[in-house]
Amino acid sequence: PPLTCNAILSDTCSNEVTELADIDWENLGFGLLPTDYMYTMKCGRDGNFSKSELRRFGNIELSPSAGVLNYGQGLFEGLKAYRKRDGNILLFRPEENALRMRMGAERMCMPAPTVEQFVEAVKATVLANRRWIPPTGKGSLYIRPLLMGSGAVLGLAPSPEYTFLIYVSPVGNYFKEGVAPIHLVVERELHRATPGGTGGVKTIGNYAAVLKAQSAAKVKGFSDVLYLDCVHKQYLEEVSSCNIFVVKDNVISTPSIKGTILPGITRKSIIDVARSEGFQVEERLVAVEELLDADEVFCTGTAVVVSPVGSITYRDRRVTYVEGVFGVVAEQLYSVLTRLQMGLIDDKMNWTVE
Ligand code: COI
Repeated sequence: PPLTCNAILSDTCSNEVTELADIDWENLGFGLLPTDYMYTMKCGRDGNFSKSELRRFGNIELSPSAGVLNYGQGLFEGLKAYRKRDGNILLFRPEENALRMRMGAERMCMPAPTVEQFVEAVKATVLANRRWIPPTGKGSLYIRPLLMGSGAVLGLAPSPEYTFLIYVSPVGNYFKEGVAPIHLVVERELHRATPGGTGGVKTIGNYAAVLKAQSAAKVKGFSDVLYLDCVHKQYLEEVSSCNIFVVKDNVISTPSIKGTILPGITRKSIIDVARSEGFQVEERLVAVEELLDADEVFCTGTAVVVSPVGSITYRDRRVTYVEGVFGVVAEQLYSVLTRLQMGLIDDKMNWTVE
């Protein structure tokens, strides 16, 4: 049967499915569809990354005492490649991912590839797997760079060796709703991040920490969870997998980056797109009560792109927003961003890399 993978079905996607001809490009979700090649590069005690290799996609071997397995010394990134109508391939702001990985590596006591090494590795991986890039408008090739402590440690210490790895998968919509509003619940007990912690970097542990609340929310029929700050339990932070924006009277507000929120590259791009479209954008503390009379709410992220929020449930009160697919503001920003990413409009910002 044709393959249809989405966030919920992703649990059932397996390494065995690799036939390009089987992919149903009309119904791509966000699950792993293994492709041909993955990229690896190692860094030993000298702190330099070298010995890069493109090899067949497959399992990797790690010591049971690898730093990433025992002490969570790992980071990941997410970016996308798009097929243009003329057949060329576009990457969206790959240097930003490289810089964010370097920032995260500093926090996690890890060496990281240079920006140039990172971008070259992404290009090599995408080119090696280019037959898996969906046709224009049908999705994108999701690129997942990983940086992990792959050397053996027993006492708590930074790993003596690191592996940088990139794999890719064709993807469509992240949420099972497709291009339709998602439904969020505000989490009041569990928190994603603490001041001074690692919430502001893309370390793997941040994502493990949200699974409990996210799973409970999904059982109740919600798409995802919206987290509050852990000090006042009053200000919006982010959703498990994306950043959040609130629109009131044509002013767009989003929580400011202050160490507990992931500095999303789509977040940053949407702020710039919104300002260039004439909107006022405020990065500030956004109180949870502001959700109650907002005109629109939407989420941004590499995987989710721009996702309209249909409802938010807070303290058993459900506030609904859009009736159709998108609110007016989210639709305008989504349209500009995605047309830019796919090379359908002039890239005045110089964000895409061919
Ligand atoms: C992304 O948007 O690329 C992310 O890394 C979020 C992840 C949970 C899919």
